[in-house]
Amino acid sequence: MQNNKRPDSMKRITNFELANAFIDEQVAIVREQVGDKKVLLALSGGVDSSVVAALLIKAIGKQLVCVHVNHGLMRKGESEQVIEVFGKELDTNLIYIDATDRFLGLLEGVSAPEQKRKIIGNEFINVFDEEARKLEGISFLAQGTIYPDIIESDGVKAHHNVGGLPEDMQFELVEPIKLLYKDEVRVVGEALGLPHAMVYRQPFPGPGLGVRCLGAITRDRLHALREADAILREEFDNCGLAEKVWQYFIAIPDVKSVGVRDSKRYEGWPAIIRAVNTTDAMSATIEEIPYAVLHKITARITAEVDGINRVLYDLTPKPVGTIEWE
Ligand code: XMP
Repeated sequence: MQNNKRPDSMKRITNFELANAFIDEQVAIVREQVGDKKVLLALSGGVDSSVVAALLIKAIGKQLVCVHVNHGLMRKGESEQVIEVFGKELDTNLIYIDATDRFLGLLEGVSAPEQKRKIIGNEFINVFDEEARKLEGISFLAQGTIYPDIIESDGVKAHHNVGGLPEDMQFELVEPIKLLYKDEVRVVGEALGLPHAMVYRQPFPGPGLGVRCLGAITRDRLHALREADAILREEFDNCGLAEKVWQYFIAIPDVKSVGVRDSKRYEGWPAIIRAVNTTDAMSATIEEIPYAVLHKITARITAEVDGINRVLYDLTPKPVGTIEWE
């Protein structure tokens, strides 16, 4: 690949002025590269693909076709936000595919973490490939590659990437943010007018809640996980922890214990809180959550989410624990 080295002279993009200059430059480059042809983008709703989408909409408008695949393992409200922001506000050419049943069908009864990852990754390619073949006149594939992906492409994170296309489908790549670091992508995203919450979204694994609904995924436990996670995020927003903690989420193991509710025996799953700080995800420390906040989260999750009767707080740093459970 060419031009994959960030020039030493390139200034770190830290403000709107530099971001706007970058945007203008890339808009011109993309228009030159693409001409009047069509570009396809897998829009996950993550920071990188969202910023690429917004940039390409500015450059080529309806020549961009975005495909959002909902694998049924998104967090609460995420697919809805993609539809709202891109489908409605930005009036993007957006194809939304709800493939929940396909993914959950294939995952039924599968408990081995690596096998779950493989199924999700492969099926993502299948769904995206099927959609791509239905479209006519696509010449380019846009990707939200960023500079750390290039630097680390043969490193630890390589197995994390979900997606891509089968080898017989060859498109020329459009990768407008491939020389940017994550913090720069965020500044550019805000300069493009994307919502703050989308641009500062915490990292979310490609296989989504699939790695946090431990063991064989069932719809009821996945639903409980999604609801409990939404409560955690809401409470972290309310008390200001959302701005201080790098990544926070709930994991639910495939284990039930006895509890009591309304004076009756009540078996349920535990919801495990993970809240970590890190700079590179290679090691991580535990964020201190005030007890009052923990009590509130516990009270809300156990009262509002069906199937959960305990809330636990994981105090393990990385190493020795990883950030995700799986
Ligand atoms: P671990 O669990 O290995 O996670 O300590 C380190 C970081 O990587 C994220 N992660 C992923 N990111 N696709 C991604 O883009 C994935 O498949 C994936 N799996 C883990 C994890 O959330 C944490 O931030």
